[in-house]
Amino acid sequence: MCKFPSNFIFGVATAAYQIEGAWNEDGKGESIWDRFVHTPGTIKDGTTGDVACDHYHRFEEDVELMKKLGIDAYRFSISWPRIFPEGKGQINEKGVRFYQQLIEKLKAAGIKPAVTLYHWDLPQALQDRGGWESEETVEAFQDYAAFVFQQFGKEVFMWITHNEPWVVAFPGHYEGWMAPGKKDFLAALRVSRNLSLAHGLAVQEFRKQGISSPIGITLNLSPVHPASKNEEDLLAAKRYDGYLNRWFLDPVFKGFFPEDMLEWYKQKGFALPQFNEEEAKLVTQPLDFLGINYYSRHIVKKGGHPLLEIEFVHPENSKYCEMGWEIYPPGMYEIIKRVAEDYHPHEIYITENGVSFADQPNQEGKIDDEERVVFLREHLKELYRAIREGYPVKGYFLWSLLDNFEWAQGYAQRFGIIYTDYQTLRRIPKKSFYWYQRVVKEKALP
Ligand code: NOJ
Repeated sequence: MCKFPSNFIFGVATAAYQIEGAWNEDGKGESIWDRFVHTPGTIKDGTTGDVACDHYHRFEEDVELMKKLGIDAYRFSISWPRIFPEGKGQINEKGVRFYQQLIEKLKAAGIKPAVTLYHWDLPQALQDRGGWESEETVEAFQDYAAFVFQQFGKEVFMWITHNEPWVVAFPGHYEGWMAPGKKDFLAALRVSRNLSLAHGLAVQEFRKQGISSPIGITLNLSPVHPASKNEEDLLAAKRYDGYLNRWFLDPVFKGFFPEDMLEWYKQKGFALPQFNEEEAKLVTQPLDFLGINYYSRHIVKKGGHPLLEIEFVHPENSKYCEMGWEIYPPGMYEIIKRVAEDYHPHEIYITENGVSFADQPNQEGKIDDEERVVFLREHLKELYRAIREGYPVKGYFLWSLLDNFEWAQGYAQRFGIIYTDYQTLRRIPKKSFYWYQRVVKEKALP
């Protein structure tokens, strides 16, 4: 029987742009995601986050649902342009009040707030002046962080600076299918540097304010397996690991970009200077925990990708979710072990894990997502294995509380344990909701 420690944190996670809606209400400024979704051809099903789950107006109902679920903590993000419509300067009091009320409601329901400062919705005003390619954004992030810490520092249980900076850098600036939709590899490299520096500045600011709650960063990490033992495939896997995993792990924990990757990029014509001593010190500000978002693994061989010279392999006998990602529960254990052994974070939180299936209500209006229950159980078993072996995993946040706007995929992807009916905005707990309710209550796997 998998019995988790009594102080283990079970939670759920969301992000502002994916659930809030109210994109231009109560003084909120435009974000790069508002701009991106309003640009034709960017989102698979042509939808936007203008309304999303309308959480901005329905947060009380959502907190009630969380209370019913019985979770210990709720991870959400703050929309930067809701607080600073222009990215800096003038504060939007109504935006501040929204998060104040949300935090109060959560606390009244006995739920600990876990806050992400940046989950991808940069104020458009800053993008217009260079976005994450510019130092101005780094400085503005520091000021935004300082304000939010002052405002909510004492009330928040745990803090996350960035969510998945890798996605901001590469899908956002190189592959171009996420906001701001650039296709410029050198820009992606510059952005990586600035995101790392901004993270360091936020942590420095946090320590200066003497806040006692823990602070960390959330990275999207996946085990990368070589498709064969051929030297070329082994090197391809190492490269993809450098591109995806080590690219932010190394800066944050060791103060440098992986040298093999800098060298590879240089040979391809893209030079990025290493951090200097002062910068290295800044980006390696000691963290209280590392947040890991784990969804799937990658199997890689040498191949035709123009920059990385790799190719993905998709085993036929594996199962895949609606996103096309392989379902691979042992990866949960593997990634925790690897990160703990190579980087020694004080503590680890799984800040996201979950799965998208094509859920639909049956004739009685119920959603029987047994596949999701199986997915969650298998992944939690692997997490438990890591804890039993002594790795310092302190909590797990399921992605997501409710079906929401899955970025470039729109609403077709449903990750929630609560079904969202986008016509009526009615929320219907799925079978997995009731299953997770038991897990949380018993701190054990039924
Ligand atoms: C990671 C991201 O942080 C989140 O916003 C997204 O919805 C999930 N992965 C699922 O793709």
